[in-house]
Parts: sequence; C-alpha cells; structure tokens
Amino acid sequence: MKIRKAVIPAAGLGTRMLPATKTVPKEMLPLVDKPVIQYIIEEAVASGIEDILIVTNRAKSAMDDYFDYYPELEHTLLRTGKDDMAHVVRGVADMANIFYVRQKETHGLGHAVCRARRFVGDEPFAVLLGDDVMMYEKPVLRQLIDAAEKFSGSAIGVQQVSDQAISSYSSVKMRPLEGRVYDVLDLNEKPTQEEKFSNYAVLGRYILTPDIFDILEKTPAGRNGEIQLTDGLAQLCKTNRMLAVDFEGRRYDTGNLKGFLEATVDFALQTPDVGPWLRDFIKEKAESL
Ligand code: G1P
Repeated sequence: MKIRKAVIPAAGLGTRMLPATKTVPKEMLPLVDKPVIQYIIEEAVASGIEDILIVTNRAKSAMDDYFDYYPELEHTLLRTGKDDMAHVVRGVADMANIFYVRQKETHGLGHAVCRARRFVGDEPFAVLLGDDVMMYEKPVLRQLIDAAEKFSGSAIGVQQVSDQAISSYSSVKMRPLEGRVYDVLDLNEKPTQEEKFSNYAVLGRYILTPDIFDILEKTPAGRNGEIQLTDGLAQLCKTNRMLAVDFEGRRYDTGNLKGFLEATVDFALQTPDVGPWLRDFIKEKAESL
C-alpha cells in the first residue's frame, strides 16, 4: 500500500486569529521565514507524498499564488546577484504537484475532506490539517504511513493531552498493539469530561482509505452543526482496521495565538540565521522581567 496523495483542508475562516486573518489566510501567516502551509507541505513531501490537494475557499487565492512561479521576481533576484533566494523562491513552486479545490460552503472538516473524492480515486491517502505544524526528527506523517503499511489499516496520529485540553479535540478509545501503535476502538469529537474515552487526542494527521467518502456523505451534522470527520472515523473503525500512532514529535496549533507564538519561538531557535541571536535576546529579556 503506497501512499502518494495527501489532502490539506485549508478552508477555515481563521476566526481565532482575527484581525490578522481578515485578508491574509491563516495558512499564509509567516512562521519565522515561511508561511505555515509550507511546513505542512514539507512534512508531506518528506514522508513520500507526491500529489497534494489543498481544499481552499474564495478568500485564499494567496495560497495558489505562493506555489506558482513568479518570473519577474526571480529575474530581479538573479539580476541583483541574489541567486540563492531566486532558487528558494522557485523551489517552493516545485516541491510537489499541488492541486486545489474550493469548499464552496463551510460545513465542517468532514465536508472539506469529501471535496477530495475525485482527486483521491481508489487509493489510500493522507490528510494533514493546515493548523497543526509538527517539529520532528522523523516526519510525523511518515510514522503514520509506516504503521498503516505494517498493519494494513487506516491510521490517526495521537498524543496525550490534559483533562482540560481534551475537550478541544477528538478523544480516542484504543487498545495497545505494538510499541507506540494501538488499535482504535472508538472516537468522539470534543467530548466533555464525562464523555471522553481517554486523554489521547487526534492531532491533525490521518491515513484514510477511500471507504471514508461513502461514510462521510451519509454522516449527519454533529458537534457545532458541522459534518465531523471524527464521526465518520468512528464508523470506519467499526468495520475496517484503524490504528492510532502515539507519534514522536511536538505539535503546535498555529490556528490560535498562543500556539502560533510557541511555534514561532521554537522554530526561530532552530533557524541558524536567527536562533543564537534569539536565544541571547530571550535570556536578556527574562533577566529584566
Ligand atoms: C479538528 C478536528 C479534531 C482534531 C483537531 C486537531 O478540530 O475536528 O477532531 O482533534 O482538529 O487539531 P478543530 O481544531 O478544527 O476544532
């Protein structure tokens, strides 16, 4: 089972990051020197993905532009001796085969994933949520693909979160299988403390089989009146094997301000150009607080 295709739902309105996201898509906000969406695509490519579908909406054409060539800019960079940057700018457009489809109405994540049906065809595929940026040694999506291939099933990426946080995610009922891999028995979306199955939360990475489309097309609106991917997964795991991978790496929710700031600091500290400077700056600041 080779996973070649990935879907990135990126049609959300970005209401948690207003007013910055009124005209700039939240996926295009810069995390250090690259937009958030580029980190997601780099992880997909590093995991072996070749074709990527971004599910967008009418306010997000800046994303399509970003992954296009920009000859005028490249010529200017080359003419002024900035060859390295010209290659960086061109390289962004050549990272993968990127396709787009618009989610014409906002009916939730399950509905957005359904827009990928024609693109996916009858192969297993990956889903990477546009807000969930990972810092990893081995790409998180690759960790899921390895489990899906080894145990022939779909797969979801999970980590344990606090009692308070679990109500912001889907919670998973699971049984140990091998190492960091579990069998999924059930899931529910944004549970209360009474409803939660465990503190293991699904954190934005999925390997799915095309069986999910028939299920999602029949799934009624759930939490928040939206068609929830989690409700579809809860059904899929009853009939097909589904694995949960307690992945290694750190996940940042860049769709809210605190998560975005944490990611900015951590990724900047890892960036050779500014990391050492930022470390000194933070130390100096901390001493003066
Ligand atoms: C979405 C999913 C949820 C998942 C979360 C991970 O929620 O619906 O199941 O746990 O992403 O980030 P959202 O963040 O869109 O509310």
